[in-house]
Amino acid sequence: MSANPAHIAIIMDGNGRWATSRYLPRVTGHVKGVEAVRGIVKACMARQIPYLTLFAFSSENWRRPPDEVSMLMRLFVSALEREVGKMHENNIRLKVVGDLSRFDAALREAIANAENKTAANTGLTVSICANYGGRWDVMQAMGKLLAERPGATSFTEEDLSSQLAMSYAPEPDLFIRTGGEQRISNFLLWQLAYTELYFTETYWPDFDAAALDAAILSYQQRERRFGRTSAQLVDVKKAS
Ligand code: IPE
Ligand code: IPE
Ligand code: MG
Repeated sequence: MSANPAHIAIIMDGNGRWATSRYLPRVTGHVKGVEAVRGIVKACMARQIPYLTLFAFSSENWRRPPDEVSMLMRLFVSALEREVGKMHENNIRLKVVGDLSRFDAALREAIANAENKTAANTGLTVSICANYGGRWDVMQAMGKLLAERPGATSFTEEDLSSQLAMSYAPEPDLFIRTGGEQRISNFLLWQLAYTELYFTETYWPDFDAAALDAAILSYQQRERRFGRTSAQLVDVKKAS
């Protein structure tokens, strides 16, 4: 059986439906969703997974009703302020990834404080994707590249990938989407090229350590060929 994934990336979807199926306001689903984050962070630490990346708010989520957007922002600030101490005690390094320029000053400050406080930690790296979009990421990387090398006419894949917002992390091994939809919704477009995809009907607030283990088990049963044939992989294993 293969090893644990080194990097798990999750689209945490289904908070709203979790709530409405219980005749509760959508906000209650988001509050429960934060609790689920806590559980999955703990589970990743216990399983010694080095990188966990969570899609919290997409570039497209601004299209939601203003009340829901502002509630999500408040929830984000309060969760950051409340949890950063515990994360630091647990040697977690926190990163917030996305176009932060659209967030208000209080949120940007909470983000900067949390990142600075945990920057030197060596345990689990938790990346929260906020106002993130895969297309935005490729475009901002391209912009940086062109600014660095004005006039250049050709670039390598490595030139571009080293400018992506998450260039500090390996590409995800396992992608999980909760909530039943089977789409990428503009998450890590470049980095998901060879990631194993796992979709579950479970709504995010119900996604617990056992559900994570089911996803990891599914991942471990797959053969990652990266374009090669199955027989070639056997040869490589024998040689090593
Ligand atoms: C995911 O849950 C959280 C965010 C996108 C912020 P949703 O709010 O999308 O929940 P559903 O998909 O409406 O159930
Ligand atoms: C994707 O969920 C983004 C996050 C979980 C943050 P959405 O609920 O926004 O995705 P769509 O609209 O169903 O594709
Ligand atoms: Mg959704």
